[in-house]
Amino acid sequence: MKNIVLTGFMGTGKTTVGQLLAEELHRQFFDTDQVIEEKLGASIKEIFKKIGEPKFREFETETIALISNLEDSVISCGGGVVVNPENVKNLNRNGIIINLYASPEHIFKRLYEYDTRPLIKQMLNPLEGIKKLLAQRQKAYEQCAFAIDTDNLSPEQVVKKILEHKLVKDILK
Ligand code: S3P
Repeated sequence: MKNIVLTGFMGTGKTTVGQLLAEELHRQFFDTDQVIEEKLGASIKEIFKKIGEPKFREFETETIALISNLEDSVISCGGGVVVNPENVKNLNRNGIIINLYASPEHIFKRLYEYDTRPLIKQMLNPLEGIKKLLAQRQKAYEQCAFAIDTDNLSPEQVVKKILEHKLVKDILK
């Protein structure tokens, strides 16, 4: 059966929702950032610092190519994954890609206290930076099968919405 793939900007709850969804469906769960962290033995923050973003993106694309071969899984992707059309092509081969959306203000609130997102860390004005990056990536996120606005939903409610969607019901038949 097809994979259920979650994407969306940083701070939209992909990992939490993905874990809950995998539990609910008794499926395996993969988070692309966690796979990369385990492979390189370092946190995303350290990886960005040591090898830089372009090299990180290469590892990310390799990871997506491997993970896309799986079946019956729930996969949460780093927020930049769908920007590369090669990743989208691979993930779509045996999966449905769902975009978790949140407004810049919510993303800012959710990420504010964390020091784990190097792209946010380097922004002089994080709220403005989030708005800009979100706008740059909008087209990439829009290619997904469908989107869920997570602003006023708990992770459990997001899971419920995913499971209620016709496209998801169809692949779970
Ligand atoms: C990134 C998102 C992060 C991580 C890295 C880059 C991005 O993942 O892959 O910091 O480019 O949006 P999360 O979306 O899980 O935070």
